[in-house]
Order: sequence, then structure tokens, then C-alpha cells
Amino acid sequence: MPWVEGHDEQSTRDFLARSEAKWASGEVFTYAVVPDGTPVGMCQTYRWDGSAGWRLGYWLHPAAAGRGIATRATAALVAEMFALPHVAYLEITHDLANTASSAVPRRLGFTEVRREPAPPPAAPSGVGVDVVWRLDRPAPSAP
Ligand SMILES: CC(C)(COP(=O)(O)OP(=O)(O)OC[C@H]1O[C@@H](n2cnc3c(N)ncnc32)[C@H](O)[C@@H]1OP(=O)(O)O)[C@@H](O)C(=O)NCCC(=O)NCCS
Repeated sequence: MPWVEGHDEQSTRDFLARSEAKWASGEVFTYAVVPDGTPVGMCQTYRWDGSAGWRLGYWLHPAAAGRGIATRATAALVAEMFALPHVAYLEITHDLANTASSAVPRRLGFTEVRREPAPPPAAPSGVGVDVVWRLDRPAPSAP
């Protein structure tokens, strides 16, 4: 992703401070992904459409990819978000060329709802088209 360029300790500290502030204001919830005591990535959700629609993202260190960790972390985040009564739906977007990312919403039962031009800055490996996936709040089970 473009923001990885120039990544250093100070930018990480700044990011953590911003993450705490945005958590406190209820705009963005950012989680470290720590499968066995070592941080290997993060997943995040941010307010997208009032308080009803939220978008999710996930990022792993390359050494942690290919083991289902992003899918498990995102599944946990989906469960956390639907525990909040005001959350009606969740969305995941990724560049059309990002097939590793597309597998996460597909495995979790999201449905592709549209494709649209990606807002800048684009990842160098991207084609500039965002695929949007959506998962509605599950209907309450019958009593
Ligand atoms: C997108 C990204 C997080 C996906 O990572 P990933 O490792 O492909 O996804 P998962 O952690 O869910 O792992 C899935 C892989 O583990 C395998 N796997 C093993 N056990 C699994 C399980 N229990 N459940 C799901 N997958 C499992 C799958 O078969 C799959 O391998 P495959 O791609 O060879 O079929 C990762 O590629 C990444 O960080 N990319 C850079 C950042 C990025 O693009 N983020 C998204 C921006 S929209």
C-alpha cells in the first residue's frame, strides 16, 4: 500500500496515537493481529455511512500470509461489529487485482455489490478499480 513507503518507528508511534484517539471518538477501531504473541498485522473498521455502515480492512506481514490469519481476524471483527446494535451492514473493498484480499470477504459470506473507480492514492500493483463487498446484519433467529 502507498502508505507503507517511508514507514519507520516514529510513523508507527504517530499511527498508534491517532488510532487511540479515533477509537476514543468511535470513528475507527483498529486491532493488532497477534496469533501467538507476536504482532503480524492489523485489522481495522471505520465508520462509513453514519453509524449503520462500516468498512473493514486487513493487512498482514508477508510471512504471516497463506495461513488463514486474515480470514480469522476479519471474522472476529465481523462478530464484534454485529454485537453493536446500530451496525446494519459491513463492507470490504479492495483493488480488482488484489485476489488475496478478495478471498477474505468471499470466505466470510460477503456478496460483491459493485465495482467503482478507486480513490487515489492507488497501490502500484492495483488497476484502479475497487470491488465492493457487503454483508448485512444477520436476521435475528426465531425465538
Ligand atoms: C490481503 C491479505 C491480508 C490476505 O492474506 P492471506 O494470507 O491471503 O489471507 P488469509 O490469512 O485469510 O489466508 C488465506 C490463505 O490461507 C489458507 N488457509 C489455511 N487455513 C485456512 C483457514 N482456516 N481459513 C482460511 N484460509 C486458510 C487459504 O487456503 C489461503 O491460501 P491460498 O491463498 O493459497 O488459497 C494479505 O495478502 C495482505 O496483507 N496483503 C497486503 C495488504 C492488503 O492488500 N490488504 C487488503 C487491502 S484491501
